Amino acid sequence: MDTKNNIDRYKLKQKASLSGMGVENAPENYDWIENIRNFNMDHSLKTRKTRKFKLNVFGCQMNERDSETIAGMLIDMGFEEVGEHDPADIIVFITCCVRENAEERVYGHIGALSKECEENGSIIVACGCMMQQPHIVEKLKKSYHNVKIIFGTHNVHTFPKLLYQYFNNKKRVIDVWEKEDRIIEDLPVKRTEKHKAWVSIILGCNNFCSYCIVPYVRGRERSRSMEIVLNEIRELAKDGCKEITLLGQNVNSYGNDLGQKNLFAKLLNAIEDIDGISRVRFMTSHPKDLSDSLIDAMKNCKKVCNHLHLPFQSGSTRILEKMNRRYTKEGYLNLVDKIKRQIPDIALSTDIIVGFPGETDEDFEDTLDVIRKVQFDAAFTFIYSPRRGTPAEKMEQIVSSKVISRRFQTLLDIQKDIGTDLAKKVEGKTVEVLVDGPSKQNPNILSGRTRTNRLVNFEAEGVKKGDIVLVDIVRAGAFWLEGRGGKVIG
Ligand code: 5AD
Ligand code: SF4
Repeated sequence: MDTKNNIDRYKLKQKASLSGMGVENAPENYDWIENIRNFNMDHSLKTRKTRKFKLNVFGCQMNERDSETIAGMLIDMGFEEVGEHDPADIIVFITCCVRENAEERVYGHIGALSKECEENGSIIVACGCMMQQPHIVEKLKKSYHNVKIIFGTHNVHTFPKLLYQYFNNKKRVIDVWEKEDRIIEDLPVKRTEKHKAWVSIILGCNNFCSYCIVPYVRGRERSRSMEIVLNEIRELAKDGCKEITLLGQNVNSYGNDLGQKNLFAKLLNAIEDIDGISRVRFMTSHPKDLSDSLIDAMKNCKKVCNHLHLPFQSGSTRILEKMNRRYTKEGYLNLVDKIKRQIPDIALSTDIIVGFPGETDEDFEDTLDVIRKVQFDAAFTFIYSPRRGTPAEKMEQIVSSKVISRRFQTLLDIQKDIGTDLAKKVEGKTVEVLVDGPSKQNPNILSGRTRTNRLVNFEAEGVKKGDIVLVDIVRAGAFWLEGRGGKVIG
């Protein structure tokens, strides 16, 4: 790749595409990128070796998307990406703090790398949500000496500058911004896949659900301009991308901070006109903000997949109130009824928290009642994890961990049966699949997703990653479908 040209292109594109849009940028970043690239070039000439990096990504799709920017910057700085088992000069951790076990995994991984760091002189870069919490930065500073660079969610774009500083004086560099009102556009990005892509449309969250750390570590809602989002999708389509997933903690608020109503529905309608894109997905939707205009857009836009991720968290109105979710059990069920009436073939998935402080057996029964009534294709279930600084952390926990584990298992069992029953209805049918490549479990067969987001493993000749194919489903389980054949249709 000609990195110099790439950087010049970013600089030019940035000037051209962002002028007059009210979007600021940080052009100095490209100078830092260039400085390190020169530094790396000298190193390569002297040693005949290219410096390497590897990424460890934890948490949600937002972090996945951030990791693509971090990889893009590193590649433009002249580093080469290697696999998880290969030695690397720079090991980046993009961290998550939504639940305690995500944090523990990060500490465990970083600790386990100490031998590799000592033997190879590798350094660890820690960034992402965990770094927005001062007590975590303190812990890393004190006990994890190989972590040499720390930055937060608001200043990902300063990474090249921080790396330059580290290379120059070999002293630990820590720079975590409390907020950043600008949206830094057009940073280098290395997309993980060609046939499908994440496109973030809104950053941050204003909802302050009482259990959730996200608003504290990702800041308030900031929407990207619709014009910039559409340009990005057009570029992706030109590059062969067929499916995009629009990302935000709450995509339904898209445009609110720009003073524009129903902008998310308008965005979905505008994407309909982009040639090459066949599928549009989005996540996540807060039930309180899911508007009629969005249901209309989902119904009318052919590219928008018939799948909706709609977290309900708890079926009990009493617990929902304590969670500050601002809807009731009945409100949620009515919303689902309305969506199903308008879009009868919609597949629904959800997030559920078990063991929120004060959850009684009746409250939990309400959660089971909702999953039985709604019939979700998939449910992501979490045991409540107290997060420092959130209102729920101060609430009295009356439920024992034994009871929580029992409830959790009951929920998994019931949902598995529901998921299996729904899957059985697909047996004998032909479904459209976007092929992701060989299956992770068995490289001799292919794997992909239906428009309803079900995983399909299938055998077919002459089919490759990125094809859209018709697959006959011969067997169905709760978590995957098994198919045969694959007529390429796109
Ligand atoms: N404990 C357990 N689960 C949580 N989630 C968010 N915060 C917590 C917490 N403190 C879950 C919610 C959310 C998903 C991304 O993570 O279900 O929708
Ligand atoms: Fe967290 Fe609630 Fe915002 Fe989702 S909507 S990120 S659960 S605060």
